[in-house]
Amino acid sequence: MNVSNGPTQMNHNPGIAAAEAVDQDRLWQRHMEMAKIGAIPGNGVNRQALTKEDITARKLFFSWAKASGFSIGLDAIGNIFVRRHGRDPDAAPVVTGSHMDSQLSGGRFDGIYGVLAGLEVLEALDRAGAETERPIDVVAWTNEEGGRFAPGAMGSMVFTESRPLDECLGIADPQGVVLADALAETLAATPEAEKRPFNFPIAAYIETHIEQGPVLEAKGLPIGIVTSIQGSRWFEIEIRGESAHAGTTPLKARRDAVQGAVAAISALNTLMDDPTDTVRFTVGRIVAVPNSPNTVASRVSFTIDLRHPEGTVLTDLGDKVEATCRNAVTRCDVEVREVFNRQPCVFDPNVLATIEGSAAALNLLAMRMPSGAFHDAMFMNEICPSGMIFVPCEKGISHNPAENASPSDLAAGVRVLAMTVFKLANS
Ligand code: HGY
Ligand code: MN
Ligand code: MN
Repeated sequence: MNVSNGPTQMNHNPGIAAAEAVDQDRLWQRHMEMAKIGAIPGNGVNRQALTKEDITARKLFFSWAKASGFSIGLDAIGNIFVRRHGRDPDAAPVVTGSHMDSQLSGGRFDGIYGVLAGLEVLEALDRAGAETERPIDVVAWTNEEGGRFAPGAMGSMVFTESRPLDECLGIADPQGVVLADALAETLAATPEAEKRPFNFPIAAYIETHIEQGPVLEAKGLPIGIVTSIQGSRWFEIEIRGESAHAGTTPLKARRDAVQGAVAAISALNTLMDDPTDTVRFTVGRIVAVPNSPNTVASRVSFTIDLRHPEGTVLTDLGDKVEATCRNAVTRCDVEVREVFNRQPCVFDPNVLATIEGSAAALNLLAMRMPSGAFHDAMFMNEICPSGMIFVPCEKGISHNPAENASPSDLAAGVRVLAMTVFKLANS
């Protein structure tokens, strides 16, 4: 897929030397190692946040980082920081990374690629003998996916003090396990890590990620320079009726929570109908109680994931969700809770220019593009100049076991990251 061969000779420029030192095979092998943790049929992974699989993956990552001589830190929500020292120990670090947790039925590259890319960059800088003024931290954010404990991007949200940790500790997963207990278990599993504070000063943040869309592959381009992330809002809707006998209860006498949910979701479909197909409206989870074929459901809860690149449209549609549900549901009670609300974010022009310059220096064709998926970079963008690098993934498939990427595309992204991080860590 790579449309150029990258740099052809070792270069005295330490940034290019570091890019040259990126080890494509080892990067790929580490992905395959990680993919064994929580492996599910079809080449997928189920490595949800703060599970035993997440703990196993964290320990494996720690072992690689320690073997390369880097120090390991952990903050109170379990965000991991692997540090490579610079000449000035007091300088604010450049941070790069992503997340290690996956969807329930996820792929081998979403998130983990950005974490392994960061580690590979630290090692490539060492191999190239490329010193930096600033320290560099590789971060693995806790619970970016939000598939177990909603909402997503929780680790970066709490790190940037956009939401207090205390407000998250009581959040329960669908099995009723609260975050505080799963977090305590996870933190206890790696006692050797030094404690890191929230929201420490950071010079710049770069996240590398698969595109999770078809554009780069369709255009045959190896690098995407991400300009923005669309806004997103998450809601949890609960419809409360009354359980009754399926055989003896007349339809007119029922307070059927499933029928209530059906009415609400079809009314929301009408609200979200968009001839330009720009609105992203998803009901991804529906839970009926008692969930029995011959009992009328007393309660149905369902989720809403709403996204749009224009903040005004996101606000307008999101603000209509509650009234739309209430008007559609007649015989049951309705409760609407909004659990996430992020306006679109636009990345730092200097960081984008630095990424663009790195791709050009490495003869890698690149294009600027928005992100439909959200990432931890949207929170980091609030506290420091941030940007993202995309690489293609097969047919744009993601949040699906079939998610795939090529070793050369993954390595090309890491080369651009190496040069970019080197430049920013010396600015
Ligand atoms: O949902 C998202 O956009 C991200 O992939 N977790
Ligand atoms: Mn991701
Ligand atoms: Mn994801």
